[in-house]
Amino acid sequence: MNIVVLKDEDAGTSSASISPSENGGPEVSSPVEAVPEVLPILPLRDTVLFPGSLMPLSIGRASSLRLLEESLPRSKMLGFVLQKDKKNEKPGGRELYDHGVVGRVVRMIRQGETSVLILVHGESRMRLKQVIQEEPFVKASIETRISEPPAKDDDLAEAAVRNLRVSAQKLMDKQPDVPDEVKALFATLDDVGALTDLLAAHLSIDSEAKQKLLEENQVVRRVTALQEHLNSQLRIADLQNRLRENVHSELSEAQKKAYLREQLRAIQKELGQDGGAEEQVEDIRQRLEKSELPPKARAQADRELKRIEMIPPQSPDHSVIVNYLETLAELPWNIVNKEHVDLYKAQSILERDHHGLAKIKKRLIEYLAVRKLNPAGRGPILCFLGPPGVGKTSLGQSIAEALGRKFARISLGGMRDESEIRGHRRTYIGSMPGRLIQELKRLGTRNPVIMLDEIDKLGADFRGDPASALLEVLDPRQNQEFTDRYVDVPFDLSQILFIATCNTLDTIPAPLRDRMEVIELPGYTEREKIKIAGHYLVKRQLAEHGLSREQCAWSESAIESVIEHYTREAGVRNLERQIASVTRHVAARIAKEEIIKAKVTPALVREALGPPTFVREDKLKTSTPGVVTGLAYTTSGGEVLHIEALRFPGKGGFTLTGQLGDVMKESVRAALSLVRSRARQLRIDPKLFEENEVHVHVPAGAIPKDGPSAGIAMFTALASLFTNRPVRSDVAMTGEVTLRGFVLPIGGLKEKSIAALRAGIQTMIIPKLNEKDIPDLPEEVRQRLKIVPVKTVDEVLNLALKAAPAMKPHSRSRCN
Ligand SMILES: Nc1ncnc2c1ncn2[C@@H]1O[C@H](COP(=O)(O)OP(=O)(O)O)[C@@H](O)[C@H]1O
Ligand SMILES: [Mg+2]
Repeated sequence: MNIVVLKDEDAGTSSASISPSENGGPEVSSPVEAVPEVLPILPLRDTVLFPGSLMPLSIGRASSLRLLEESLPRSKMLGFVLQKDKKNEKPGGRELYDHGVVGRVVRMIRQGETSVLILVHGESRMRLKQVIQEEPFVKASIETRISEPPAKDDDLAEAAVRNLRVSAQKLMDKQPDVPDEVKALFATLDDVGALTDLLAAHLSIDSEAKQKLLEENQVVRRVTALQEHLNSQLRIADLQNRLRENVHSELSEAQKKAYLREQLRAIQKELGQDGGAEEQVEDIRQRLEKSELPPKARAQADRELKRIEMIPPQSPDHSVIVNYLETLAELPWNIVNKEHVDLYKAQSILERDHHGLAKIKKRLIEYLAVRKLNPAGRGPILCFLGPPGVGKTSLGQSIAEALGRKFARISLGGMRDESEIRGHRRTYIGSMPGRLIQELKRLGTRNPVIMLDEIDKLGADFRGDPASALLEVLDPRQNQEFTDRYVDVPFDLSQILFIATCNTLDTIPAPLRDRMEVIELPGYTEREKIKIAGHYLVKRQLAEHGLSREQCAWSESAIESVIEHYTREAGVRNLERQIASVTRHVAARIAKEEIIKAKVTPALVREALGPPTFVREDKLKTSTPGVVTGLAYTTSGGEVLHIEALRFPGKGGFTLTGQLGDVMKESVRAALSLVRSRARQLRIDPKLFEENEVHVHVPAGAIPKDGPSAGIAMFTALASLFTNRPVRSDVAMTGEVTLRGFVLPIGGLKEKSIAALRAGIQTMIIPKLNEKDIPDLPEEVRQRLKIVPVKTVDEVLNLALKAAPAMKPHSRSRCN
């Protein structure tokens, strides 16, 4: 632990302060801030902050995280108080000591999902006056306390201080691991109050003893108390040295060690120190014996066990090594769950958890069959591709269950730090192994199914490239010898069955993509959603709320109404959420004994969920010229896209709105050129182009859109606008255009067709070159949608444009 003294404000010294920001990293400190009268109180489990010290704190408790989240945006000042019982997970105001320190948070570093590291500078002593709030975290009114400097003319006091300096210097000379900053500061610090706080912060004594030193308001008495601690530390250091010298060389190595350990324990007992640490190490030693470490790990463990004997249990280094050895002991070096592939059982598990998905289930069963025939073979890494809520994660779970293996999910979404995969080197404060090793440790087996969720959302920045680390994890030639930086010795990952999921393939680095076999889940049609809800989601929610089918009977029309009015998604995640809300509503009324059972109808759904959130797209349609229904493919599935083009008198200008990306902007320009080049054929007066401004807008205006696949829709919108012929409102289209009027193929046809069906479209125009994809479309889509493949834009216009309405006198320019 690094403790750097900056300044001691309560004692009134003005020694130059070292800016903590010099170490780099995001800076959250603000200029000098007055201490507020009421402070949020962060409980410290087993450490004491002293004024003038800079201390790193790893924060993991939910209430403490909440405290940081709510308070830091307003003020960096917090109260730091030791809790009386370190085992207490959520100490209330009364379970804290009265005295603590006002600290200023100078930096905050996120360490994964559930932990942050903060760097705190102790500002001044304080006392809790009154606890004002207990939930969700403690807040209290405080008073800051000034420690009383020793009287200048007190000879006795001066002698005591000199004595203290001498002892401290002696101890530092015997302990090589004292940081240089501390030594330097110690030598230059004149202020006695600050000096005592520096020594107290850095002494290897337990937290209760430190708390006593903190509470001691009189500097002179602090000096005396510190002197006692220093004396006993010096005695231990002496004894240790002497022991090392005295042990006779004729003793065997093992005897020597046993003797030394015995002696050390005796010393610690004599000094009234906790003997638990020694037993803890002994316990780890035995567990390490049992856990069949491979040779490299064995050697490493032995080295660390040897090192730990030399370090006093109060030293922070001691607990660092203990944590490391615990990790080595707990890792499942040689624990493998027996795999039993029963294809019939697998099939029934897949059926039990998932409706439909016939092709995917078949592919999974084939995959399992191959594993059964050749267990040692390395199958491809499966990757489920599809919009949210279509069951990618839950399919992974089912596979694990079918194989009788344990399951863990690692969410890669937003992961930017390479060390989340490869771990932190042990030299960092609060360093940890990477997520993989953590999960293996938790699961206690070497061959689980591990889901790499949202692999398309991996980030990369200055903290390294997690994708390349992942590549190493997935590479069968390298992953037998995967070395996490924290673990520091190779661990074999080759028995893990990896399954990845993603919403899109575009953002996955090519080398990663090449390792995977992609299985597509395109999203569900309305009929499929009704089935899934009826057979799975409703059942699950009833069970969750402790209701029977009779107590809460869902009608199909109610499910339909939830799908149509309260969700718009490719998957069924929101559907499940809304079904849960309605069920909760019923459960609450039954619990209040207002009713004994309910039949869930569309009216009840409305009562529970309020007015509809979504209007069906077909209700938005108009038949004004210039409005066209396009189809888009997004990471959350297919969407219909309403393209609106408008013209008004002007000088041939051109405006585009609706957050269009560059590719889409270019495709609008190409569409306009194409319309102009065909003016004669379309019977458009060429003057119109010069005398009008055109505005193309694509709602929803807040969502960024891009891609070339709306080309024919843009063209049709503009052609409709200038010919004044409206577009048939039951037609939707997708396809890229060329400047010569050819229609090029597009991606995501499945998703788009499902969206079209959802929006009440009857005819879908697609590129001829996508005709080959039609057999893959869901059955329901093929039955209910008229799908028309086209080669050129002329065919599109023939299908989509209606006859011009009867000429109105002002129809040439619509400036309403
Ligand atoms: N075909 C299906 N049959 C039954 N339940 C499903 C189906 N598809 C999805 N679900 C349910 O929908 C919810 C969301 O699925 P999830 O696996 O989290 O989706 P994803 O990982 O694709 O975002 C889960 O409760 C899942 O069981
Ligand atoms: Mg998921």
